[in-house]
Amino acid sequence: MGGVDPARSRPEHHGSRAVVHERRSEDGPIGRDSYQACLGQTFLTSHGIGRFFRVREPLPAGDDPNAAAPHKAHAALEAVNPRLQLALPAVTPVRRLTHYLFRFPAKFHPPVVSALLDRFTVAGDTVLDPFVGSGTLLVEGALAGRRCVGLDVDPVAVAVARAKTRKYDLDAVAAMSERLLEAVSQFDRGADEYARLSRSDISLTEMSSAIRDEQLWVPAIPNLEHWFRRYVVVDLARIHRQIMRRRGDSQTRHLLLILFGSIIRNASNADPVPVSGLEVTAHMLRLEAKGRVVDPFALLRKAIARGVAAIEEWTSALGESDAPSVFEGDATAAVAEIPEQVDAVITSPPYNNAVDYYRRHQLEMFWLGLTLSHQDRLQLLPRYVGRPRIPASHPLLAEPWPKDGLAAEWEREIAQSSPGRATDFKHYMLAMSRAMRRLAERTTEGAPVVMVVGQSGWNGAMIPTVALFHELAGAWFASEPTLWYPVRNRYMSYSRHNGASIDREHVVVLRRTDAPVDGLA
Ligand SMILES: C[S@@+](CC[C@H](N)C(=O)[O-])C[C@H]1O[C@@H](n2cnc3c(N)ncnc32)[C@H](O)[C@@H]1O
Repeated sequence: MGGVDPARSRPEHHGSRAVVHERRSEDGPIGRDSYQACLGQTFLTSHGIGRFFRVREPLPAGDDPNAAAPHKAHAALEAVNPRLQLALPAVTPVRRLTHYLFRFPAKFHPPVVSALLDRFTVAGDTVLDPFVGSGTLLVEGALAGRRCVGLDVDPVAVAVARAKTRKYDLDAVAAMSERLLEAVSQFDRGADEYARLSRSDISLTEMSSAIRDEQLWVPAIPNLEHWFRRYVVVDLARIHRQIMRRRGDSQTRHLLLILFGSIIRNASNADPVPVSGLEVTAHMLRLEAKGRVVDPFALLRKAIARGVAAIEEWTSALGESDAPSVFEGDATAAVAEIPEQVDAVITSPPYNNAVDYYRRHQLEMFWLGLTLSHQDRLQLLPRYVGRPRIPASHPLLAEPWPKDGLAAEWEREIAQSSPGRATDFKHYMLAMSRAMRRLAERTTEGAPVVMVVGQSGWNGAMIPTVALFHELAGAWFASEPTLWYPVRNRYMSYSRHNGASIDREHVVVLRRTDAPVDGLA
């Protein structure tokens, strides 16, 4: 049988990093058969001894609901070896840094990132996060002396990650924040007026006159009045105008804009809690009926107080170290800004059908001026990975799709009950396969590619995310034992949506082999 021969894995010192070379099968580092064959076997890896571990013994034939569909059994094989649990550093006092500057779905848990940096990289390494989101890896990486580079397709994510990781002139931050708060205070309507407005909004004429008379800019958000009360539109536009009028340090102005962006969701009618998308839920309608008060100026004051404290902590922790770089770009395409030689990749890719980042940040994207029209924004849509409702005409779906293997089996399974979901799944796998190739192009031999992946379900069965990622690794990466950690305080309420019950996350660990990457347009 082909596949990995675990017993032959030998650590080898490669610069400052131990590297495991594994025997490989023709179809990739660890295919379906080898995964089965590896069960119970001992691995010698750069980090000690690991073992593939069976989560539950198979039921006798006939009792096992998965027996007729062997690909489903893979989910049960995803490793939960106590010895492969990622030890998280206990950091006291807890450093909040800029991690909580902006609420972002499915963020990395900072101690996990810190543990992964510690385990897989050394000071001076160039570390890439191609799905950087709000930049958690960049914050932790820069403080640990790594040269960090982040990429994301979402303009809001990029703007947030930049704001969280820049080098700031603290005097400029303090002075401009103070001047802004002073300038906006003239528009504050006061507690009584906000209480009154919670029962009866201003008229359309009042809103239009304020916008016209004060020459306010209001973003072209489709269905604006569905998302915001009228007086809130006026107040937000007044705050925005005052931020844009600040002269001087442009980085601080950008920071203030992001802090303004961080209050948009709470100032809107949308439910801030479900993180997967954007919705005015029944819960919010109930709160409205009870007289929910929305005071944009109070929200802003709080965001600025927290934000300035966060920037101070970050700036003092960063000291003289270099600030990370962040670029807007598609991880499945060629991105010139990515360094030629990446020593390690640490990332949490988007999950299939979990968070709809495109929709989720819609209001912020408009208010931050990162998109000017619905048409403009639509250009971004095809680039997001993991989205639902992928049209059959998406160009990626024309790429070759394997007949065999785990992905092919799952796609057939899903298609039986939902062809649309099967198309989403196929798109996800094809996109992630492209992303893997792009990583192979830029990573040095032996470089670890470390991916935190959650689990998702389909019709009551768990989709074996880890095994699917091993399949995606192709010939360019060898698989190492998967680590895991329990999930406690997480910002991921979407699990109810896709049927998964997520109580731990896996860390897929791959190593760049010497396999060449052929050209990719
Ligand atoms: C799970 S989140 C990453 C969260 C991040 N680890 C953090 O701590 O904030 C996944 C990210 O992938 C991004 N993404 C989706 N498709 C992408 C693509 N084609 N290229 C780059 N980023 C993409 C999403 O915008 C989202 O920010």
